[in-house]
Amino acid sequence: MYDIIEKKRDGEILTNDEIQFFIDGYTNGEIPDYQVSALLMAVYFQDMTAEERAQLTTAMVNSGDQIDLSAISGIKVDKHSTGGVGDTTTLILAPLVASLGVPVAKMSGRGLGHTGGTIDKLEAVPGFHVEITSEEFVNLVNKNKVSVIGQTGNLTPADKKLYSLRDVTATVNSIPLIASSIMSKKIASGADAIVLDVKTGAGAFMKELDEAKNLASAMVSIGNRVGRNTMAVISDMSQPLGNAIGNALEVKEAIETLQGSGPKDLTELCLTLGSQMVLLAGKAESLDEARNRLIENLNNGKALEQFKTFLESQGGDSSVVNHPESLPQATNQVELPAKMSGYVSEMIADDIGTAAMMLGAGRATKDSKIDLAVGIVLHKKIGDTVKEGESLLTIHANQADVDDVQEKLYASITISEESVEPQPLIYDTIT
Ligand code: URA
Ligand code: CA
Repeated sequence: MYDIIEKKRDGEILTNDEIQFFIDGYTNGEIPDYQVSALLMAVYFQDMTAEERAQLTTAMVNSGDQIDLSAISGIKVDKHSTGGVGDTTTLILAPLVASLGVPVAKMSGRGLGHTGGTIDKLEAVPGFHVEITSEEFVNLVNKNKVSVIGQTGNLTPADKKLYSLRDVTATVNSIPLIASSIMSKKIASGADAIVLDVKTGAGAFMKELDEAKNLASAMVSIGNRVGRNTMAVISDMSQPLGNAIGNALEVKEAIETLQGSGPKDLTELCLTLGSQMVLLAGKAESLDEARNRLIENLNNGKALEQFKTFLESQGGDSSVVNHPESLPQATNQVELPAKMSGYVSEMIADDIGTAAMMLGAGRATKDSKIDLAVGIVLHKKIGDTVKEGESLLTIHANQADVDDVQEKLYASITISEESVEPQPLIYDTIT
């Protein structure tokens, strides 16, 4: 291990055997934290070649279980987002692309954040559950083209150890380490092809566009090198995506979007990512064809029908689609009136996310309980005009006092006298 650290410190390229040796040794406890810390810092400064990054990812994948989706027919395409505020896309994309015959075998988590993860959101639907066996999961995808299961197996234990160590050694923010960490989990989850949604802006992990592009290129290169067809879209996360931020509120927003009447930005991102998924799955000849067929299924009710089938197949009450009022509802709805007339020029995504979390929509620690009913629904987005006294958003709360939340929200929204152009939704596509 000493020689490996020295080699990387001096900017040399590690061999496959050396990378395998350190990942195996660290996973089984033979190599101590202090030596791995030194190596991580050397990687931070010296970087890794594309080949080293792919080898590191493969070694991490092989450190634990891998999900075998070979019993599912067709090309399994997974979508991964680097995370943002109010990102409801998975709830929409899963049934939408499945309605064109793309098999969606989604393993999802609860996780920490401003709102719950995909599973928490789906559990706002009465009866819905993800505690199914791997066998049921495979059968459901073969039968209905879509299923969501909770995390199973011991996936990428090397990543778990490395991520904790990076957290305390100032080595989280390194492109080769982030890219291999994210891709190892995606690859171990078994998809044949991967569409990445890399976010940029205030609410994103990568705040700057250049950083987001570098991370996207690194992940695409790893995916393609290890034989998984991979592409990335760089999308905006300076303001929240769509209008709803909160678990049940996002389910309602997903239903509206599947009915073809969702927020413009959320619909557009779903069509962009969805057409890439359909193309990678070989279910269309071109992006245009894929997009047109997705739009058709939003308009003819097939995507919504697919969502109902999916909910029912895992115990969910699909009547929520026609009766969203049967989703969990908060007791108080409080408006946030604009303090002046003008144009909305800023809606800082992560601060609005924090406000949702103050209401109880997300988890601060692994064991926090979340309130599925609460959250925020925006009535204005960047670029919109607003009159003094007009509501900027509605707070859905189960607490009587929302003064702190209102204060946080006022501080995160700017109204200016001059008109403003909203940022582009999609910045780039990387293949
Ligand atoms: N998310 C991950 O899964 N890994 C990282 O290294 C950073 C973000
Ligand atoms: Ca949303």
